Amino acid sequence: MSNRVLVTGAAGYIGSHTVVELVKAGYEVVGVDDFANSTPDVLKGISSILGFEIPFVEADCSDMSSFSRVFEAYPDIDAAIHFAAFKAVGESVLKPVEYFRNNLMSLVNLIDLMRSRESGNIVFSSSCTVYGEPDEGALPISETARTKPALSPYGRTKQMCEDMLKDSVRAYGNIKVTALRYFNPIGAHPSALIGELPVGVPQNLVPYITQTAAGLRKELSIFGDDYDTPDGTCIRDYIYVCDLAKAHVRAVDRMLGADGERYELFNLGTGTGVSVLELVNEFKRVTGVDLPYKFAPRREGDIVKVWADASKANKILGWKADTPLGDVLLSAWNWEKKIRNL
Ligand code: UD1
Repeated sequence: MSNRVLVTGAAGYIGSHTVVELVKAGYEVVGVDDFANSTPDVLKGISSILGFEIPFVEADCSDMSSFSRVFEAYPDIDAAIHFAAFKAVGESVLKPVEYFRNNLMSLVNLIDLMRSRESGNIVFSSSCTVYGEPDEGALPISETARTKPALSPYGRTKQMCEDMLKDSVRAYGNIKVTALRYFNPIGAHPSALIGELPVGVPQNLVPYITQTAAGLRKELSIFGDDYDTPDGTCIRDYIYVCDLAKAHVRAVDRMLGADGERYELFNLGTGTGVSVLELVNEFKRVTGVDLPYKFAPRREGDIVKVWADASKANKILGWKADTPLGDVLLSAWNWEKKIRNL
């Protein structure tokens, strides 16, 4: 075995952090990205951390003629981690076809390219969005909870991709899959050389907070203060992106070590729920920066509260997301300061 791992979406937020952790763990990688939602500068950031340029092919995974070139150039791929996908919930409602084409076709192509190979190991980026609003008493939510009808085309593509992978495991004897359901990834690499780079106005909470603290936005709007939670704001499970990246290394180790079932599913979260207000206050505490905010109407489609039962990943992958929230928020702030030259 060559130890070569293909990383699609390698210039993306989670992809770039995972490339760094894979290389640190001794893997050879080959990155793929079409820069639809990222820039080549991310590769420079990765090189600065690692001290060398990773093998990389610019290709669109949803276009077979483009994607297959990667396998021609690197015939020794043993496992693929598939990050490449669109991920904006609101945008997906307006552009469902683009989401179906990109998110579904890229996975169809990947399975097609992997199914005839000796090693057909695929790690898939899924999301806690597949659970929808957890039932009363179902929190923390475990992998055995039933999934709910998706509220957006984005969420639907995650569910459909999981199903496509299950069907492929049944049909093709070499295909082995680890589906990872991420909760809310936040933060940036401690070097501040890579991090989250939202295009336009950030839709996600932490980039909006750091941009507000940096003076790019007037104030944060906290969507809803009258939810059925202790402080009235929504609750999520915020996981440090570097901890999340390390879980991918463990998943690849396990697959290449021929451990486990042919289709495995893990929640990746901290196991702790944090409210929007708690997160805002923790940001202010660790950075000492003022953060103007106001309460605004609820955001349509928001889940009230969800956090992970991550005990399966803790036990089977031997992994735990244990970076303190304050340190994670500080890493996000350091990254924002770096890119704004503050
Ligand atoms: C959602 C999806 C997640 C998906 C992600 C991609 C769920 C449970 N989660 O995350 O699967 O990968 O989108 O974008 O469906 N908030 C504010 N003000 C803001 C921004 C956010 O108050 O300006 C609040 C939201 O109302 C929410 C929390 O912050 O309560 C987190 O929001 P966000 O960062 O957008 O993530 P999710 O919506 O949880």
